[in-house]
Amino acid sequence: MQSLVNQKYSINSKVHYNTGKYKKPMMKGVILAAGLGSRLHPLTKVTSKHLLPVANEPMIYHGIRKLSEAGITDILIITNPCHVGDFVNALGSGTDFGCEFTYRVQEEAKGIAHALALAEGFAADGKIGVLLGDNIFNASIQQVVADFHAQQTGARVLLKKVDDPERFGVATLHGNRIVAIEEKPNQPKTNYAVIGLYFYDSTVFDIIRNTEPSARGEYEITTVNNIYIEREQLEYNFLQGEWVDAGTFDSFAEAHRILTNQKE
Ligand code: G1P
Repeated sequence: MQSLVNQKYSINSKVHYNTGKYKKPMMKGVILAAGLGSRLHPLTKVTSKHLLPVANEPMIYHGIRKLSEAGITDILIITNPCHVGDFVNALGSGTDFGCEFTYRVQEEAKGIAHALALAEGFAADGKIGVLLGDNIFNASIQQVVADFHAQQTGARVLLKKVDDPERFGVATLHGNRIVAIEEKPNQPKTNYAVIGLYFYDSTVFDIIRNTEPSARGEYEITTVNNIYIEREQLEYNFLQGEWVDAGTFDSFAEAHRILTNQKE
């Protein structure tokens, strides 16, 4: 393992990861990359969806860059047992990204909140930013990270107006508050998708412990977010620019288009 972690990696020289602008990390980050990517078979037969090429890099480089540009450089990567070795080979210790990576394995595919529970020790009672590794977007997240840093307690999500809300967690707004989130409703009440980037205080792990799996047998992140709503502790920002959840062939192609066209 040590030799893998120490080996050198070739990275596109145009890419700037941590600029060093933020001397003290504001919070730790978690990238969830444990999904089996079954909707992308046969591309995902031998490796993780998050390591497939998007534009000219493995997909997960995007998430690492987004977090590190916002000053989040201490990052836990959660993978499945089959692909953890591929992630270590591709990413190493994080040194070449100006980051420090930690890896954990989700043994069973029991949902996003179940995977996030593995981050409790890593979070060490601090705030965390949690990114689903297949969420691709071109806007900076520096402002939302700063907003959450300034927030005393609770959680923060990002919303995006979409044409196909039934594919996502969907937020209902009342005034300037989110009053409910429904996971993949057949008849969405709004067009506001909750994207796969979440910010939590340290109470998130107690919340997860007290949730039950949904009808599809998964511990849903939407259940967790609804508990923050009940506590009147869920804030939000709208995500600017383009966004896609790259889980299907069409959205994978869209992710490639977004990252190919973005201006460095
Ligand atoms: C997950 C969440 C959903 C969210 C989406 C964003 O869905 O459950 O609430 O809107 O990510 O990408 P999944 O992609 O795991 O089906």
